[in-house]
Amino acid sequence: MKILITGGAGFIGSHVAKLLLDQNHEVIIFDNLSKSKIEFIDPRAEFIEGDLKDQTKLTECLSGVDLVMHFASLIEVSESVKNPLLFAENNILGTIHLLESMKTAKVKKIIFSSSATVYGPPTKLPLTESSPILANNPYGASKIASESFITTYHFLYDFDVTILRYFNPYGPGEMHSPETHAIPSIIKAALNKKPIPVFWQGEQIRDFIYIEDLAEAHTATINLTGLNIFNVGGDKGIKVIDILNKVSDILGYKLEIDQLGERAGDVAANYASSQLLKQKTGWQTKVDLDAGLKKTIDYYKQSLS
Ligand SMILES: NC(=O)c1ccc[n+]([C@@H]2O[C@H](COP(=O)([O-])OP(=O)(O)OC[C@H]3O[C@@H](n4cnc5c(N)ncnc54)[C@H](O)[C@@H]3O)[C@@H](O)[C@H]2O)c1
Repeated sequence: MKILITGGAGFIGSHVAKLLLDQNHEVIIFDNLSKSKIEFIDPRAEFIEGDLKDQTKLTECLSGVDLVMHFASLIEVSESVKNPLLFAENNILGTIHLLESMKTAKVKKIIFSSSATVYGPPTKLPLTESSPILANNPYGASKIASESFITTYHFLYDFDVTILRYFNPYGPGEMHSPETHAIPSIIKAALNKKPIPVFWQGEQIRDFIYIEDLAEAHTATINLTGLNIFNVGGDKGIKVIDILNKVSDILGYKLEIDQLGERAGDVAANYASSQLLKQKTGWQTKVDLDAGLKKTIDYYKQSLS
């Protein structure tokens, strides 16, 4: 298949690009490099530097493409609380520009990177795809709005749509700036022998999914048609403080904690049921948390040395 990946230079998009290239798909990466570096791009892929709002360029790049995987987005929750308009412009309008370009170029198949954030503060766990959708931060709101526009193009123009709601991806290659996600923040501070920044005393419960398992959810859904919405998680809730203890065990030394209190836009607990994805595609996770953490620590040991 010829696949255009928006945001393919970023953490998750670059892993998915690699997997697709390994499976002999033709990959075009469309990214404005606002949050990533050209070095993250697999040299086997064609790279086009561009912004989602450049519909003319996007439409040209979409010529002959069979499928779009749409990762390009601003992702940082606290930043979205400070600057909701920026998130609406980049994420919501960006998605509409993409959909319009796809319509013009007659590309009618999309897989979209959504997020557990669309569920807001859950009233019942685990979260299933039919749990209520309720944003509690502008980033989540931008994902809900993007999902709605994408499903609209399914109903209006017969697009084949798969929406993947990721829970907490982690693994090698995660180099966000600022880094606000628990696992890379813990590991980087631990390797630098600095106090570990911890919100909510580490009591938040999250559902971590190793990056290669998440990448495989994309290839597992590549041939689906119609409208599909799936959670993608590890089906297990774990406290952030327990992650910290596991990292401490792997490294073999005690970690000092820097208690940062509460953080706007966070929810106390969320974890997924990914049963629907498993039933529909046979996808399953292969890398458990201990193995994933070891691989991730090895990556940061190398990249920080
Ligand atoms: N990382 C997570 O924990 C997580 C969790 C749930 C969902 N997601 C979603 O997965 C997707 C990928 O996340 P990530 O962690 O790889 O983020 P990332 O920041 O590493 O990658 C996003 C990429 O999109 C590019 N980009 C942003 N706006 C763009 C625009 N207007 N035009 C072109 N390129 C643009 C950036 O330069 C970057 O390369 C996002 O849609 C995110 O919302 C991520």
